[in-house]
Amino acid sequence: MRSLYEKPSLYNRVFEDDEEAFPFFQDLIQSHTPVLPRRILSLGCGTGHLEKKLAEEAGTVIGIDLSKAMLSQADATINRCVADMSALPFGKAPLFDGVISKLLSVSYLGKESTIRALFELLATLLKPNGFLLLELPLAYNPRKLQGVSERQDSRSYSSIVEYLDITEESELGAELYFRIAVAQEEEEFEINGTAFVFQPLELRNFLRTLGYSNVRYYAPYELGSECKQPPLEARRGIVSATLTH
Ligand SMILES: C[S@@+](CC[C@H](N)C(=O)[O-])C[C@H]1O[C@@H](n2cnc3c(N)ncnc32)[C@H](O)[C@@H]1O
Repeated sequence: MRSLYEKPSLYNRVFEDDEEAFPFFQDLIQSHTPVLPRRILSLGCGTGHLEKKLAEEAGTVIGIDLSKAMLSQADATINRCVADMSALPFGKAPLFDGVISKLLSVSYLGKESTIRALFELLATLLKPNGFLLLELPLAYNPRKLQGVSERQDSRSYSSIVEYLDITEESELGAELYFRIAVAQEEEEFEINGTAFVFQPLELRNFLRTLGYSNVRYYAPYELGSECKQPPLEARRGIVSATLTH
């Protein structure tokens, strides 16, 4: 079965509602780094619709993605780089005002050790007062995310099936096997692999040990309002943090 990332046009249709969240990301980035131009690294940039807006707003956006097919659909105003985010090609110099990741891309690294190493490296790649803005699966109890769900959609694809099953629990959260299948006409496409679900309080503590402060959580579909508590069981929550050391 083909990966959905090999069919970016279908991927874009499946996730087109996501564009509603762009002003929220743009406002948060503006409040973190009001001075232009800014230099932003996007991890798992994909087809880069938000990144295009950020590049237009006066700045340099470097978009990293494993999938050449996805990146080839991203606008040429983005500096596109086919690479694995677990092996970033930037050394350790403080090059960026901000690092963003939308639609769970960082969690697709799966293993806690790989994710910890990435967060440690990002703290060296950010300039002082640089920010992280990551969309991640968050759960106090990752076990509650397990299960199968199915929804029908009449737009351009017929059904989406999601399957989640914990394979390992660890200090920061849990690793989940997941599979998303999208059927279109006679053909089915999928995204599958291991995703990491973060426990919000452990993630906050870990970020603080790396020199971040102002760790904040936002609920996915109540954009614009900060949560007093991290969202409880959010397949998609947003964490922001500022590097202060
Ligand atoms: C769900 S998509 C999100 C794409 C985009 N950020 C968006 O909001 O539409 C996840 C993206 O992460 C990329 N990805 C997955 N693992 C990666 C890795 N190890 N390094 C770089 N990119 C990766 C995939 O190719 C895919 O484009």
